[in-house]
Amino acid sequence: MLFTRQIEFESIGKSLFLSQESEGDTGCVVWDAAIVLAKYLEKQRYLLEKQRDLDVRPVRLSDCHVVELGSGTGCVGLTAALLGASKVTITDLPQLVPLMEKNILQNHNNLRCAVDAIELTWGNMEQGAALGTPDLLVLADCIYYEESLEPLVSTMRSLCGTSTTVILSYEHRTTGNNLEIQNRFFGLMEENFWKESIPLEDQHELYRSHDIHLFKFNLR
Ligand SMILES: C[S@@+](CC[C@H](N)C(=O)[O-])C[C@H]1O[C@@H](n2cnc3c(N)ncnc32)[C@H](O)[C@@H]1O
Repeated sequence: MLFTRQIEFESIGKSLFLSQESEGDTGCVVWDAAIVLAKYLEKQRYLLEKQRDLDVRPVRLSDCHVVELGSGTGCVGLTAALLGASKVTITDLPQLVPLMEKNILQNHNNLRCAVDAIELTWGNMEQGAALGTPDLLVLADCIYYEESLEPLVSTMRSLCGTSTTVILSYEHRTTGNNLEIQNRFFGLMEENFWKESIPLEDQHELYRSHDIHLFKFNLR
């Protein structure tokens, strides 16, 4: 067992306590891109969703069913539940479900809605269909290996409805074939989604970085 990560949310005077594991898959620790996205949600509290016709309509987090893909410890989804989402589902590979459940339980007293931890392996359409259509789909640092790109994008494509907003964060890495993987991912996304970059100045003043990028997507 690794140390528990405490993430403070000053605006509501509460913290998340996330258990991490010292051994296991990539998802067993909290990644920086998740903290940047969690802190962006805190800063926004409500999200502006751009419609296809570019009308802007406010979507309050309190009205949102939030689904997180590749949650790992559950950092982003649990943040949404702490900030007042109406329903949250955190998802990952089956081996991460016990850690997600542990983190739900550990934060239970502060969460403002029910949170479910379920297995969702990207590309498994049956598992995705059981979730319904979220208002907000979030994912942090999930663009990192070639074989997952098409399954991940098809899962996102099948989960999203026309009123779903996707918010994605990732850490820009230039080693090995990371750049190629990122370019391929964004190419696949652009076939299906409108993309909007979230500028650094809209992000949390302290928890942001030139290496970590945030994007919003809406189904085309
Ligand atoms: C780099 S970790 C990021 C974890 C968490 N989002 C964070 O930022 O702290 C990538 C996550 O994607 C999950 N993942 C990888 N391949 C997956 C797949 N095929 N289906 C579902 N989840 C997957 C991993 O288990 C892991 O939790």
